[in-house]
Amino acid sequence: MRFYSCFLVAFLCVLAFDDGGFLLLSNGGITSSYVRNEEKSVDMPFDSDVFKVPQGYNAPQQVHITQGDHEGKAIIVSWITVDEPGSSTVLYWPRNSTKMVQATGHITTYTYYNYTSGYIHHCTLEDLESNSTYYYEIGFGHTTRTFWFVTPPEVGPGVPCTFGIIGDLGQTYDSNTTLTHYEMNPVKGKTMLYVGDLSYADHYPYHDNRRWDSWGRFVERSVAYQPWI
Ligand SMILES: [Fe+2]
Repeated sequence: MRFYSCFLVAFLCVLAFDDGGFLLLSNGGITSSYVRNEEKSVDMPFDSDVFKVPQGYNAPQQVHITQGDHEGKAIIVSWITVDEPGSSTVLYWPRNSTKMVQATGHITTYTYYNYTSGYIHHCTLEDLESNSTYYYEIGFGHTTRTFWFVTPPEVGPGVPCTFGIIGDLGQTYDSNTTLTHYEMNPVKGKTMLYVGDLSYADHYPYHDNRRWDSWGRFVERSVAYQPWI
């Protein structure tokens, strides 16, 4: 993806699927005059507030969601715990409802050179209603955290959905400006089409995987609330 390194953009466009299955690209126009700095920015230090570890014993961190099926009726929730494996259970419920549903995922870990990962949880939430706000809670048994997401509209002809697009984000001071720029756009993206190149941890010796963790904490503020796909 180095091919794309020369630019870093975030913009919004509107996509719609027609009934023939073709992808129609409508002209969303230019929504902002924002142009990023040409100079290469440096990575934010580990103690930056955007990388802050959530408080509490074994608190879930790097929480992120992605689409879990082809119809928009499932969401995969992922997060990391660092003190101990903890629970892979997700409790979720639609807004304006007390009917809670429980799903349990699985845990994995990996090592890479001198790095050992935390406990990586993945859990799929299924049978979701379209166009609905859901809350989800994780971290049971220790520190729980609650987030929410909105499911996409029912698949059909001419159904509008607003996507954000970001590529080559990284974790520099400019990365923070880019993500903030996306979040501040009055046209709110519902799902992020993330076109690749994420943490740039490979710029460090042994691909310092702590930079994957800091990147995960950095983007949580968006990706915990809308799928990045
Ligand atoms: Fe890149």
